[in-house]
Amino acid sequence: MEKIGLNEIREAYLGFFESKGHLRLPSFSLVPKNDKGLLIINAGMAPLKPYFTGLQVPPSTRVTTCQKCVRTGDIENVGKTSRHGTFFEMLGNFSFGDYFKNEVIPWAWEFITEVLKLPKDRLYVTIYLDDDEAFKIWTEKAGVDPKRIFRLGKEDNFWEIGKGPCGPCSEIHYDRGEGVVTTVDEFLKAADEDRIVEFWNLVFTQFDKDENGNYNKLSKPNIDTGMGLERIAGIMQNKYSIFEVDTIRKILDEVCKISKREYGKSKTEDISIRIITDHIRSTTFMISDDILPSNEGRGYVLRRLLRRASRHGKLLGIEGSFLGGLCDVVIENSFKAYPELKEKRNI
Ligand code: SER
Repeated sequence: MEKIGLNEIREAYLGFFESKGHLRLPSFSLVPKNDKGLLIINAGMAPLKPYFTGLQVPPSTRVTTCQKCVRTGDIENVGKTSRHGTFFEMLGNFSFGDYFKNEVIPWAWEFITEVLKLPKDRLYVTIYLDDDEAFKIWTEKAGVDPKRIFRLGKEDNFWEIGKGPCGPCSEIHYDRGEGVVTTVDEFLKAADEDRIVEFWNLVFTQFDKDENGNYNKLSKPNIDTGMGLERIAGIMQNKYSIFEVDTIRKILDEVCKISKREYGKSKTEDISIRIITDHIRSTTFMISDDILPSNEGRGYVLRRLLRRASRHGKLLGIEGSFLGGLCDVVIENSFKAYPELKEKRNI
């Protein structure tokens, strides 16, 4: 398995799905359009909901994107762990009533084992309890060893977020540990301990959940997949922590430089360094999508992130304003994929 940079993985993924007939679209804005239930885009499929429900006609029935996402539900854990963050990029390929399980499963396997060259003996697959169709395709078409497939319930293998398109899913996991996991219990324990990490979720979107919690069958089944770019980059770069991934480490190093601190020397300082590193990513991207600090909604989320970053800067002893300088590292890292970062640099 070759080490490969985060930006190169993004390109490899989008190029792979273009070769499978997908239209590559740029990331949508973090500001949802016509979605009253959602404050900030939090998944690759979120801006595509009208295409799944048939409310709008997609520009192609096969689309691939790398979507910028912000999730602040776990904000209290950010900095304390090596894997939580408020900003992430989600790679995805989508079928709007076009292909289904028969195509997406072998493609996913081809991408991870032939393009990324992940070793098969480190991969596990989970499927929804009674999804025998997925089991058959994973074993017979993709050639996955049946012993490496586990069946999990609704909590793990049924994807839904509020109301909207949802369905059973199949997840792909990477094992960083030694030895083979043979039972569901062993699998769940290893996943809990972060030995096994989930990195790609293939959702077989068949329902539209309404406000009353009813699952209404969609007229045509769809595919929605999501792969956390930072997470797969960590796997490819053999790093446990998202803060050690190449592009993110550049930001972290700059935080250390301006605070004159060395990462890894003090537990509390490391937390502050990670919080600033994460929050400068989310805030730079939010501002480039025209979100401004305010007392409510998205603006409040931005204000809170900026305040937290600034407070942790003070805790590290940084004097004066420093966040603007850090934005430049975020822009430099990502402007090729997100040109709006450069276009909006001076607002
Ligand atoms: N919707 C799924 C997720 O966000 C797959 O894209 O994980």
